[in-house]
Amino acid sequence: MRILVCGGAGYIGSHMSLALAECGHTVEVVDDLSTGHAAAVRWGTLHRGDLGDAAFIGPLLRRIQPDAVMHFAARSLVGESVADPALYYRNNVAATLTLLEAMRATVPRPFVFSSTAAVYGEPQCVPIDENHACAPINPYGVTKHTVERALADYWRAYRLPSVSLRYFNAAGAEAQARIGESHAPETHLIPRVLKSALDGGGPLTVFGDDYPTADGTCIRDYVHVEDLCQAHLLALERLCAQPSHEVFNLGNGRGYSVREVLQATAEVVGRPVAHRVGPRRAGDPAVLVADSGRAREILGWRPRRTDLSAIVDSAWRWHRRPAF
Ligand SMILES: NC(=O)c1ccc[n+]([C@@H]2O[C@H](COP(=O)([O-])OP(=O)(O)OC[C@H]3O[C@@H](n4cnc5c(N)ncnc54)[C@H](O)[C@@H]3O)[C@@H](O)[C@H]2O)c1
Repeated sequence: MRILVCGGAGYIGSHMSLALAECGHTVEVVDDLSTGHAAAVRWGTLHRGDLGDAAFIGPLLRRIQPDAVMHFAARSLVGESVADPALYYRNNVAATLTLLEAMRATVPRPFVFSSTAAVYGEPQCVPIDENHACAPINPYGVTKHTVERALADYWRAYRLPSVSLRYFNAAGAEAQARIGESHAPETHLIPRVLKSALDGGGPLTVFGDDYPTADGTCIRDYVHVEDLCQAHLLALERLCAQPSHEVFNLGNGRGYSVREVLQATAEVVGRPVAHRVGPRRAGDPAVLVADSGRAREILGWRPRRTDLSAIVDSAWRWHRRPAF
């Protein structure tokens, strides 16, 4: 199949392009390189442009006629979304609607959407399953939830089939470390810990060690990027066989604390990671862990790289080499 990967120059989109190419699919990447890297587009053709530009995306879709679209392109920094919500509504909502309009103007094709655990907001219970109320607490989560709702409506009204995949924390890198996570600024814990280890101990702060968890630090759900890609392939297969609109959580199956990440990193890099304990950050729940039972049951998804050391090790092999 010919798959359009929107945001294919980014962290997860570039891994998806590799996974699709390995399955024999033809990959077409749309990316404006606002946060991505041209060098990460190695398994497809890069069409540089903004999804929000109807004069760019419409003709492109007509020309390449993709069999399906995977949509990773978004801004995804919670703090930035609070400081500049207009950027998020414009880029994550308006640009996605422009893309969907262009798709509606051609034949509706399966659409796989990168959503997030941020749609849930403060967890009322853990692990979080898809029936948990969606009450996002920042503009980033609201924009993702808004697109999810649009996709449900587009399926009902226009029969545009879609799957929303709610990732928890994507982590790790592909086995040969040709691509990996490279955000600026980097806000995700594992790459920040690794960078700190690499720089000989930057100012890494653990935000609070007085949470009601076994070691007092926050627990998060780290899912290997290659496992995420596997779930996308399964979701695509299902959409092609049974068009509909569905939502799935994608998580590891268990959570790991900040201290466990520091410990696993120390073991992988062979030295302790310098850090200090600071106060809690506002809006950080103690535990955020997915119940991915629905993806397991319906998609037959089996995450295989769930061990924290293996996740950190794959990320370390990427981070210790020169980045893009
Ligand atoms: N990384 C995570 O842990 C995580 C967790 C939950 C959800 N997500 C979601 O997964 C998706 C991918 O995340 P990522 O970490 O790979 O991000 P990323 O920033 O590495 O990749 C996003 C890509 O989209 C491109 N892009 C953004 N806006 C665009 C536009 N208007 N037109 C064209 N290209 C555009 C960027 O240049 C970049 O290459 C995002 O939608 C994000 O919200 C990520």
